[in-house]
Amino acid sequence: MKNNINFSQIRKKIKNKKSTISVIGLGYIGLPLSLAFVKSGFKVIGIDKDQRKIKSLNSKKSYISTISDLQIKKALRKNFTATTKFNNISKSDIIITCVPTPIDKNKKPALNDIANVVSKIKKYLKKNQLYILECTSYPGTSEEFFLPVFKKNKLQIGKNIFLGYSPEREDPGNLNFSIIKGNLSKVVSGYSNHCKTLVQDLYSNIIDKIHPVSSIRTAEFTKLLENIYRAVNVGLVNELFQISSKMDINIYEAIKAASTKPFGFKPFYPGPGVGGHCIPVDPHFLSWKAKQYNLQTKFINLASLINDNRPKEITKKIKNYFKKKNNITKKTKIVIGGFSYKKNSDDTRESPAIEIYRLIKKIFKKNIMICDPFIQNKKDKNFNKFEFIDIKKLKNKNFLKSLKFFILVTDHDLFDYDFISKNTKVVFDCRNGFKSTNRNVLKV
Ligand SMILES: NC(=O)c1ccc[n+]([C@@H]2O[C@H](COP(=O)([O-])OP(=O)(O)OC[C@H]3O[C@@H](n4cnc5c(N)ncnc54)[C@H](O)[C@@H]3O)[C@@H](O)[C@H]2O)c1
Repeated sequence: MKNNINFSQIRKKIKNKKSTISVIGLGYIGLPLSLAFVKSGFKVIGIDKDQRKIKSLNSKKSYISTISDLQIKKALRKNFTATTKFNNISKSDIIITCVPTPIDKNKKPALNDIANVVSKIKKYLKKNQLYILECTSYPGTSEEFFLPVFKKNKLQIGKNIFLGYSPEREDPGNLNFSIIKGNLSKVVSGYSNHCKTLVQDLYSNIIDKIHPVSSIRTAEFTKLLENIYRAVNVGLVNELFQISSKMDINIYEAIKAASTKPFGFKPFYPGPGVGGHCIPVDPHFLSWKAKQYNLQTKFINLASLINDNRPKEITKKIKNYFKKKNNITKKTKIVIGGFSYKKNSDDTRESPAIEIYRLIKKIFKKNIMICDPFIQNKKDKNFNKFEFIDIKKLKNKNFLKSLKFFILVTDHDLFDYDFISKNTKVVFDCRNGFKSTNRNVLKV
C-alpha cells in the first residue's frame, strides 16, 4: 500500500513537471535531451566528467554544431545547470545516463563509462528515484549494471526504486527530426509495469509518440535491430554499387526507379563506408552477445567487411584513374570535401574520411587539404596533423583550377556543387552530392 502511494506520488510529480532530472553525459545525445526537458518545464542538472564541456556550457557556448549558443543561453536562464559533480544525484528524482558505449579493438563491448557512472551514483542512491539508460548496448546491459547496485542498497525494484531503458534515436544534423522538436517516436521499457509507466509518463512530456515494449531487453534489442538493419542494407547497396559500376549502370537511377514501388522497398545509398558512434559499433554488440548463445551473426560480419573496405576501394579507383593517365606527381594539390561521418554534422567519430585521407596521403604524399565547414575547432589536438581550409576557398576559381582533384566524402549542404564541378579538373564523388552529369564528375 505504502509503495503504491510512492508510485502515484512519483507519477504526479512527473506529470506536474516537478521532478528534478539529472542527465549524465552531455554529448550528442545527453545535451539535446537535457534541452528538451528544460524546454518542456523540468529542472535539469546536466552532469559530465569533461570539465571543458561544463565550462563551455556555463559560458553559454555550445560545443555541438547543431545546437546554438542561444539555445544554451535560454536553457541556463530557465532551469538548466551544468556541473561535474555527481552529488547532485541525491537531489534528483530521475537520472538518465547517456555516456559512450564503444567497442574495443577486438570488437567487444567496452562499457567502462557505464561502469564508472554506476560506481559514482551508488552513494547518492535514494528511494523513489527512477533510473533510465539511453545508451545503446547488448540486451541485458541495463539489468546487469543497475540491479546489483539497487539490491546491495536493499532497494526493491519496481516498488521503491525504478529502472527503465529508452533507446535514443537522435540523428545529429537531421533538420527534420530531433528530440528538441519532439517529433521522434520513442521506444520505452521498464523492469516492471510500474517502472514502464513512469518512463512512459516522463517521455510523454517531450515526445509525441511513445511505443512501450514488454521488457528492457526487448527495447535494447530493438535499438540494435534498427542499427543492424541500416548497417546490413548499406553493406548490400555498397556491394551492388561495385557491380553496377562495372556494368556501366547508374545505381542512383536504379535506386530512384526501385523507390517508385509503393511497398517492400526502402532506399539506401552507396557511400564511403559507415561512421559515427552507432552503425560501425552497435551491430558488434549483438555479435558478441550472440556468441554466448553459440550463434553467429553472418549478415553483420559481412556488412561490416564490405563497409569497412569502402575507403580502400575508393582510393584504388582514384589511383587507377591517374595511373591510366600516367600523371601522378608528388606536388599534387587535393581537397577532401567533408570530414565528418555524415551530412551537416561535425561528428568525426569513426568517419571513413579519416581512412580515406590516410590512404590518399599514402599515394599522393603532400598537399592534401580538408574542407569541412562543420568542424569548427580545427585547433583541437586531434586535428593538428590535418590541413583545413575555409569553405571560402571553394568559391575561388583559380584555387579550384589548381587542384589535381576534389573528393567529396561527406555531402554537406553548404558546398556549392555546381561551382566546384565547373571549375575543378576532376571530382570524385562518394555520395552522389554532385547532380551534374559532367564527365569530370566520377562516382566512386
Ligand atoms: N550520437 C548519436 O547519433 C547516437 C544516436 C543514438 C544513440 N546513441 C548512443 O547514445 C550514447 C551516448 O552517445 P553520444 O553520441 O552522446 O556520446 P558523446 O561522446 O557525444 O557524449 C557522451 C558524454 O558522456 C561523457 N561521459 C563519459 N563518461 C562519463 C562519466 N563516467 N561520467 C560523466 N560523464 C561521462 C563524455 O564526457 C561525453 O560528454 C551511446 O550509447 C550511443 O551509442 C548515440
